[in-house]
Amino acid sequence: MRISVIGCGYLGAVHAACMAKLGHEVVGIDVDERKIAELAAARAPFYEPGLEDLLREVQETGRLSFTTNLAEARGSAVHFVCVGTPQKKGENGADLSFVDAAANGILPYLSPGDLVVGKSTVPVGTASRLAELVRKEQPGAHLVWNPEFLREGHAVSDTLNPDRFVYGVVDGSEEHPAVSILDEVYSAPLASGTPRLVTDHPTAELVKTAANSFLATKISFINAMAELCEAAGADVSQLADAIGMDDRIGRKFLNAGIGFGGGCLPKDIRAFMARAGELGADQALTFLREVDAINMRRRTRVVELSRELCGGSLLGQRITVLGAAFKPESDDVRDSPALSIAAQLQLQGAVVTVTDPKALSNAYQRFPELNYEADSGTAVQDADALLLLTEWKEYCDLDPYELAVSVSSKRILDGRNVLDPSKWRAAGWTYRGLGRS
Ligand code: UGA
Repeated sequence: MRISVIGCGYLGAVHAACMAKLGHEVVGIDVDERKIAELAAARAPFYEPGLEDLLREVQETGRLSFTTNLAEARGSAVHFVCVGTPQKKGENGADLSFVDAAANGILPYLSPGDLVVGKSTVPVGTASRLAELVRKEQPGAHLVWNPEFLREGHAVSDTLNPDRFVYGVVDGSEEHPAVSILDEVYSAPLASGTPRLVTDHPTAELVKTAANSFLATKISFINAMAELCEAAGADVSQLADAIGMDDRIGRKFLNAGIGFGGGCLPKDIRAFMARAGELGADQALTFLREVDAINMRRRTRVVELSRELCGGSLLGQRITVLGAAFKPESDDVRDSPALSIAAQLQLQGAVVTVTDPKALSNAYQRFPELNYEADSGTAVQDADALLLLTEWKEYCDLDPYELAVSVSSKRILDGRNVLDPSKWRAAGWTYRGLGRS
């Protein structure tokens, strides 16, 4: 099947490569010439495990090409809209200008029977509005909302083997002609048992924002428990293990720490609240304000704990931050709690050095005033305190005895609760976790 993918960021670049892997003939389209040049040379413009190998593999088959020319979408049967929906500046709502530009841009190239398939995370109501645009321009084409649930760091496998497909079609009917076309697009994962649900447009849009809001709530719940554990002298990791054994609760996404960040959860819960307000249903989501507040409090708490760890003052303290990305296996620093904490510590007088295996150049662009050191061995030299803020495997595996000879003071704050406190304490370190006695 011929497919176009509009928007080649974290979502679109992976989607384009994976659709080619599934056997389709794919053109990836983006306005960013640099990004397109990189992708055309089979180089990923961001770090995502497995993506470059996949780009090379599918480009050798000739099934994947990239262009900045939207007219090359003509002739594709399915047009995926994969552009970003960032938070508006100074407001909670989502900025839909990229989605609107993509949808309007594709209209002249649509033929009867084509599908325009939205994958971006949008406020409920967007799909119906865009469906009307498509219907006016090309009455034989259809608009489907088909949200994406991939996680950065696992994007390739999540796209090739998702845990579900949701197709939002105008009438919510299995008989809608778009359903069989999308079934053909996803025939391989469907054949291997991936469930799919057909819904109407607003339900499909809400599935995505509800899922991300639930995940954010789960993380903030355990971080609220961490606050309580600190007050009561309990251990939040053991608490999470114990409540997670109830399979109605589950252990996943109950890791207390510095909170959630990234280009999705924070802006999605805010956009969801803003949209609920527009719909007159703001009361339904006021709890998300608390979810957001608990999450942001984690960052302040880490700054306070760092001050305590450094003996009461941050002034002139050499602090090494291990990790800048919002999570491991990613170079994404959008709303990264690690980087935000590093910047706050620096503002309060500490001399901060940040190290990360992949995210340093993105981090530098965001906070050029911090010191960056690519080699973690050099970064920890003479440090007065270490802060583990992104749980890259190499940081989780650090040896407290080996590290002891490099630092100036054996103090570590484990912002992700991934280290074994007894092991570090036995090696003479002052260890602090979050929500751990
Ligand atoms: C999230 C969702 O998990 C995806 O399903 C969704 O498709 C994606 O947003 C999106 O909307 O595009 P992602 O942003 O890649 O995916 O990252 P997550 O794995 O969800 O992690 C988000 C943040 O929560 C990270 O900062 C992570 O460190 C933090 N986290 C996660 C915790 O603090 N504790 C946990 O137990 C789990």
